[in-house]
Amino acid sequence: MATNYEQQLCEKAERRTAVIGIVGLGYVGLPLAAEMAKAGYTVLGFDVSQRVVDLINAGTSHVQDVPTERLKPFVQAGKISATTDLARMREPDCIAIAVPTPLSKTRDPDVSYIVAATESVARSLRAGQLIVLESTTYPGTTRELMLPALEKSGLTVGKDFFLAFSPERVDPGNPRYNTRNTPKVVGGITPACTRVAEALYAPAIERMVPVSSPEAAELVKLLENTFRSVNIGLVNEMAVVCDKLGVDVWEVIDAAASKPFGFMKFTPGPGVGGHCIPLDPHYLAWKMRTLNYRTRFIELAGEINAEMPEYWVTKVVDALNDASKAARGSSVLVAGVAYKKDIDDIRESPALDIIRLLERRGAHVTYHDPFIPEFTEDGLVMRSVPLTPETVRAADCVVIVTDHTTIDYALLRQAKAIVDTRHVLARKSGAR
Ligand SMILES: NC(=O)c1ccc[n+]([C@@H]2O[C@H](COP(=O)([O-])OP(=O)(O)OC[C@H]3O[C@@H](n4cnc5c(N)ncnc54)[C@H](O)[C@@H]3O)[C@@H](O)[C@H]2O)c1
Repeated sequence: MATNYEQQLCEKAERRTAVIGIVGLGYVGLPLAAEMAKAGYTVLGFDVSQRVVDLINAGTSHVQDVPTERLKPFVQAGKISATTDLARMREPDCIAIAVPTPLSKTRDPDVSYIVAATESVARSLRAGQLIVLESTTYPGTTRELMLPALEKSGLTVGKDFFLAFSPERVDPGNPRYNTRNTPKVVGGITPACTRVAEALYAPAIERMVPVSSPEAAELVKLLENTFRSVNIGLVNEMAVVCDKLGVDVWEVIDAAASKPFGFMKFTPGPGVGGHCIPLDPHYLAWKMRTLNYRTRFIELAGEINAEMPEYWVTKVVDALNDASKAARGSSVLVAGVAYKKDIDDIRESPALDIIRLLERRGAHVTYHDPFIPEFTEDGLVMRSVPLTPETVRAADCVVIVTDHTTIDYALLRQAKAIVDTRHVLARKSGAR
């Protein structure tokens, strides 16, 4: 039976009078804020970064998927505002948490951001609030870590307040699928929690997919990303296998993909990057280790994908060798350092490993990336060089790591030697 608070929240959803709080205004939080505002809600964003809050309140976006032209009108109309004042978490009716979930140095889950955000929410939790965790995490986080902290308020879940997990599936840079038209899975602690979450998100999301529990919803996200990691690992291994057999892996993949059922095309490359694929499966592996079970697929795929930078560096060394050049003292131009095409995110990018491995062999490495003018990562400080006939010809070898659309591939073809981890040159020339 619906409680008063459930009814109230559903009515506020219907009338769009609910205030939506979003904790963590990054790649996930800001697109969600924009969709919620577009649906008619008022959004109050929270972030610990003063820089992020100031930018948003000035109507300037720091996230590529939400252009400033889209954000500014919402800010000017008072539909989106941001604050570092976490005590204001009492104001929203719904609080979505989208804070980072990295791995520690020992590759164990680092849930400290979720813990900190939960503590902030718990300090001002009031009856009639829905709390939704969106950060990717191990199964059990919502129930075991968040619920006890929130229940310290004396409020009862499913009656006074509502708690659910709903994984964010945003694919940055994807021109077809965005926060709105990607179906959204949600699993509440109680059926009422799921219903309230569905009702509040429905105006902003085309299709909600309810599941029976937060654990199921947490596992959905981990299954999706493990599926990608394992299939990328498989196809990367196939690339190494084909190389050893003297067979063109791309010909094999394309022909296999002609099968209209039972095969899904994945493509090999320099390894995996970003905030999700290299990290998320380890959340599940860690959880299962605590239950004395070893997730073998996850570990194997992780190993194979992590070995790809070394594989491609060997190809660069071979290409230099063919030109009677030693790696030591050579100059190598890396084309594209973002972890995937047409985005400005370098987190966990395999390009970083490739650069380090080349430098370790004594090569002088420069890079060009239209999306990343400069970066500082783990002691690597680099600035993009312009892509000109001079910079291309000055390199002993060019290695294509990210196949950004706007890179001038015709110019790259003028290089003395070229290694193409993405098969983009063949694609551009009309061959597969
Ligand atoms: N980026 C993606 O493509 C993607 C896709 C799906 C899911 N996810 C998941 O979503 C979550 C967020 O990822 P992201 O890429 O948006 O991260 P992000 O680093 O872009 O943004 C996170 C924001 O949270 C803020 N923050 C950190 N701690 C905070 C706190 N205690 N209170 C308030 N704000 C705080 C940070 O300052 C930052 O602005 C992660 O769990 C990630 O795995 C990311």
